[in-house]
Order: sequence, then structure tokens, then C-alpha cells
Amino acid sequence: MNIVHISAECYPLAKAGGLGDVVGSLPKYLNKQGDYASVILPHYYNKWMQSAQTRLIYEGQAPLGSSAFGFRISQLIEPKLGFDLFLVDIPGRFDRPGVYLDPWSGYAYWDEMERFFSFQIAALEWLIGGDHMADVLHCHDHHTALIPFMTSQCERYSVLKETPTVLTIHNGEYQGRYNMGDASLLPPFNQDKIGLLDWEGSLNALAAGIKTAWSVTTVSEGYLDELLDFCHGLEILLRQEKAKCIGILNGIDTEIWDPATDPYLDENYSSDSLSEGKKRNKSLLKEQFQMGSDRPVFSFIGRLVREKGADLIPDLIRESFNQGVDASFIVLGTGDPYLHTVFEGLVNNFTGYFDSRLEYNEKLAHLIYAGSDFLLMPSRVEPCGLNQLYSMRYGTVPVVRKTGGLADTVPDIGEKGGYGIVFDEFSLEELITAVKRGVELYQNTRKFNQIRKKIMGLNFSWEKAARNYQQLYASLK
Ligand code: GLC
Repeated sequence: MNIVHISAECYPLAKAGGLGDVVGSLPKYLNKQGDYASVILPHYYNKWMQSAQTRLIYEGQAPLGSSAFGFRISQLIEPKLGFDLFLVDIPGRFDRPGVYLDPWSGYAYWDEMERFFSFQIAALEWLIGGDHMADVLHCHDHHTALIPFMTSQCERYSVLKETPTVLTIHNGEYQGRYNMGDASLLPPFNQDKIGLLDWEGSLNALAAGIKTAWSVTTVSEGYLDELLDFCHGLEILLRQEKAKCIGILNGIDTEIWDPATDPYLDENYSSDSLSEGKKRNKSLLKEQFQMGSDRPVFSFIGRLVREKGADLIPDLIRESFNQGVDASFIVLGTGDPYLHTVFEGLVNNFTGYFDSRLEYNEKLAHLIYAGSDFLLMPSRVEPCGLNQLYSMRYGTVPVVRKTGGLADTVPDIGEKGGYGIVFDEFSLEELITAVKRGVELYQNTRKFNQIRKKIMGLNFSWEKAARNYQQLYASLK
């Protein structure tokens, strides 16, 4: 089956969060398991692309309201990613380095709507005008959620009307809300159907996708249940469309995320050499961060945003220090400019207890997974969460809030067969208690090692998840 993924992110070319990881690995596993899966992505002008080799395969003009724009499709030749990647180059829209944000200012690009409307339109123009076949169009998040609307409603794309569409919700917090008047930027459709774009008086791209896609998936079962309860107004719509919704837990790319072979690590290790391997990586981590010796290290990796609970970390550090909690804390990531300032201040005030690197750094992230003892994920919302899965593969015990995919993948050590530290309420108090439980576990060397060995052996690979998607695609034909 030909599955065409259309997305704003795809690792290693463009990654702002977990969406990039998923789109950079699911197609590879679909291919391994007998399908032909490819990806269509905007052609960003970033560092990675500078050393990539591409081949121009198509040039066209596409409509955007009453005007037109030119676009080019190139195929990635080198490096090989395990699937075909097609890049949509739209001069004036994507010839910039950031996916959503301007890396210099930290703020979102002003023309998000024009960028992603034109990307989706150009992708469809190529699909109807070029020779790339699709049996299923798989869209991801609101940036590509208008595709199911356009293939089902726009006369111009009627040849794709019978092609099943899947929309995966990686994050219902972002919905792509615009003015209803912006609907005029889309190719003509029967105006009686304009309500399909509308939610509470706005053009809501995610809502339009939920209404018109053949199937809607969420990245864990738990997250689907949560969205049916609350999705910033879309819960009512999701309840109406429940019959076509299904939760499919993400996997991880165990070829990339393997401490035994990880090229980002200077000290590789497996579960047989766990204690020694973790110790060596912890020493290397100490060369990168100022932290006390022989204390458990709790790390946070990811976007510094409310959703991930990053705003709880500063208080956690202050309060843990005041209460004399014997630990070290590390933060790696970028996000809210205000939090950047707060973390910079904390590094000065708590030298040796807390350290941070406020940047996106894939190599350092791998070292942190390998060298830390615990990974903190105090998320307010976590549709699936991949970091807890990476950390477990590296023998680092996750400390997570019980929500979405975290609840689905990390049972508490207090439960039978449990292997993580889980807390319920989003509060400083519960987070500190969880950290203290972590310190206690660390001090019980035998139990700590047992847990670390256990989590390294868990299988969260894409093989199973890709099979679930294959079943879904087959059911749509
Ligand atoms: C989003 C979600 C995260 C999920 C990822 C991949 O980034 O916030 O929880 O793991 O998408 O689906």
C-alpha cells in the first residue's frame, strides 16, 4: 500500500518536538513491514538541509485565493532515511530556518496561516499533477488537517476524493484557528459546506480535519479519553465523531535509540554493562554540567512550555534545595523566553545544584538520557510522550505525572510490576514527593538496579505501533 505522510516536521530535517520523531520513524517501519510509505514536508532552509543532496522533480503553480504562487518539489537523495522524502519549496514562505518559530526572536512567524495553507495546497497540486501515487493520505496535526477537507470538498482535487485520509492528533492544544473569511484562500468548494471549516465562529483547521478525515487517531489511548473530556471546545465534536477515532500508541526508533550503538554517545553500554555504562556517562555529564558528585541526577529535556510543566521546575529546584533534598537537577531545552531568564538566574543562585543548557542539542540530549538517573516529566498535558520511552531504553527512571501517554506507559513502582515514579496532581508538593521517592530508590542500590535493568528491556519499538496503523489503513480500503 502507498501511504503518503504529510507533515510540518520530520526528523532529522525538521523537529520541534515529538511529531518530528514520529514522522521520521513510522514511515521507515511501515516500509520494513511491507508497505511503501513516503513523507511530504516543507523545504525549510536550515543547517541540516545545507549538507543534504536533493533532486528537483516537479515545478508548478498553485492557487491561494485569487492569487497564485510557484512551488518546487525535490526529492531527498542523501542522506538516506529509510523512506522517500519529498520537499515542497515555496519561495517567500519556507526559505527560513525555523519550523514554527523564528530561532532568533523565539516568536512564531507572522504568516503561519499562509505558510501552511500554501504547503497543503502545493502538496495536493503535486499529488494530482505529478506521478506520486497514494492509497492513503496520512496527515499530522492542524498544519495538515485541511487536506481531508480539500480532498473531500474541493472540485479541483476530486480525483483524490476516494483516497482515504487519516488525521493523527499529536497535540490538541494547537488547533490552527483563523478567521472564517480566510476560507477564501482555499480552492473553490461548495459554499453549503463551509460549516465543515467552522468551529465556534472561527475557521478551525483541526476541527475541519476531525470532521472530514476518514479516520482520526490520537497518539495514545489515554489521550483519546482525555480529549473526549476536554479539548478546548473540540470535545463535543470528538464525541460526535467518536466512531472513527482510535488511540494508537507511538513507538520509538530503537535503531536510533539504542545505548549499545548510539553514535552520539562516547560510552556505549547495554543492559549487561548497565551500572558501569551509566556511571561512565554520568562522569561525562559532569564535564558538561556543574553538579554535585554522587547525588542522583534528575533531568528535564524538552520544550520549556506550560504544557510540559516546565514552569514547575524553578519552584521544584528552590524548594528541594530549601528542604535539603540530596539531588542535582539539569534542564535542556528552549521555549518560553520568560522561563529562559528564570533558569539563567537559577543557575547563578544554585551553582552545583542546578544547571541548564537552553538550546536544542540532540547529542547532549542523548548524553543526558544516558548519564542521568531520573527523567522528569511533570506535564500538564502529554498526548504520548516519547522522552519517557527514550529514557527507559537508556536505563533512566522516569518521574511522570499521570496523564495521557505517560499514564499509559509508566506504571508506578508501588504497583505490581511497576517501574516508574508517578504522581497525580499537577502541584509542586506532589512533584517534590515524587523526587524524594526517587532519591530513596536511588539509595536502595539493589532495587534501583533491578528497575533500571527492567526498563532497559521493555519493548516500545515501532514494530507493534506500525502494525496497528497498517490494520487501520487496511480497514479504510
Ligand atoms: C506531541 C505531543 C507528545 C507526543 C508527540 C508525538 O509533541 O506533545 O506527547 O509524544 O507529539 O506524537
